[in-house]
Amino acid sequence: MANALFTRMLQATERGAFPRVRRAAWKASYTVISSVWRRPRWRFMNYGYIPAGPAFPLAPAEEAERAFIGLYHQAVEGLDLRGKAVLEIGSGHGGGAAWLARQGGVASVTGVDRAAATVARARALNPGVPGLLFRVGDAEALPFADAGFDVVVNIESSHCYGSMDRFVAEVARVLRPGGVFTWADMRSPAMLPALEAAFAHPALEPLATAELNEGVLAALEAMEVDKAAEIARQKLFRPVLREFAAMRGSLLRTALETRQTLYLARRFRRR
Ligand SMILES: C[S@@+](CC[C@H](N)C(=O)[O-])C[C@H]1O[C@@H](n2cnc3c(N)ncnc32)[C@H](O)[C@@H]1O
Repeated sequence: MANALFTRMLQATERGAFPRVRRAAWKASYTVISSVWRRPRWRFMNYGYIPAGPAFPLAPAEEAERAFIGLYHQAVEGLDLRGKAVLEIGSGHGGGAAWLARQGGVASVTGVDRAAATVARARALNPGVPGLLFRVGDAEALPFADAGFDVVVNIESSHCYGSMDRFVAEVARVLRPGGVFTWADMRSPAMLPALEAAFAHPALEPLATAELNEGVLAALEAMEVDKAAEIARQKLFRPVLREFAAMRGSLLRTALETRQTLYLARRFRRR
């Protein structure tokens, strides 16, 4: 039953149907996850990314989270973050925002998330990181003044939004001229025209595009045993948790394998 509901939610997300219901359903889902799943380790909520080639450098304490950090590393690779004000939209449990804040010389990182319980968990899980701040806010109506950020990061969150157009317009509004917007998320090939249309904002100049499926699948494989142990600890909703976590044989895992779902990354410069 829960599994069928989750499947319907994913399919409705794909079709872009019922934006208000979807927004409410995703908010409720993340509120429940953040309220129930309280184990200290889970500071990330993404599917992870392990790039081909040599491993990128990490502090020893960050190694256990390498797969999840991978999505953030690819998002900002090659960008000079020194002195920059960074905004992460959809910051979840805050592990990514905290990792960004630990990159040398970053001026500040603000993580914003729509689910208040998720923001509370982010604060509890990432204490004492200089320059790091979390607050409640909506990607489609950001609680920030115009042109206040140099870099906007958005990882695996935009599939929850009611309107990509409103979200992209908000990103363009809060970015300073010359600032960078770096995005990663999943879409089916059928959704690509709508995605392109949303990204064709006159204030955003496209810089780079990539498909991450292979590295995301590598990360899912690397985390399979850990996640299976975590799911086995839960008393309820194991089938829906397996779907949510994209475990082997799940709908999402299969779709990523067959490329019926594409995990994409994009970068833009604010004109
Ligand atoms: C899959 S999690 C990813 C979290 C984080 N980026 C990470 O990689 O660990 C998606 C996050 O987006 C947040 N979210 C969904 N809709 C949102 C919205 N309209 N505005 C801000 N955050 C939103 C959810 O509450 C959730 O924390």
